[in-house]
Amino acid sequence: MEDVTRRNFLTATINILIGLWAATAAVLSGFAGVRYIWPTEKTAGSPGEDRISFPASDLPDGGMKKVVIGGKPVGIVRSNDKIYALSLICTHLGCIVNWHPEQNRLICPCHAGTYDLNGAVVAGPPPRPLPSYDVRLSGDKVVVG
Ligand code: FES
Repeated sequence: MEDVTRRNFLTATINILIGLWAATAAVLSGFAGVRYIWPTEKTAGSPGEDRISFPASDLPDGGMKKVVIGGKPVGIVRSNDKIYALSLICTHLGCIVNWHPEQNRLICPCHAGTYDLNGAVVAGPPPRPLPSYDVRLSGDKVVVG
């Protein structure tokens, strides 16, 4: 008799935990659904996004902001009041290139592939330029993609 009571208690506890899990999942999926129907303006990229914007004040002259566009890392660089948007995936073997403001270059840490701000290869083994993205100032925002 005691085993049956213990079994009933365990069954009830498991059912309560499953119910709490289901309720939590329903609430969270509800928020996701609302965000899908009424998306807010994105200020950072996430996989699948192909256009993002962020405040221009986040990008000081000589600085770079890393974002994700279409699931890929992109560097937004402001230099001498021009804005550039380049893929950060090295065209040699796919390492992520870094921005070196003191040289005004993007340099790959793997084999020293070096690119200028137009994405052109200026040194090292990369066979192709870095792909670029459309970028513009819209009011006080930088819009990429
Ligand atoms: S992977 Fe970038 S230079 Fe080789």
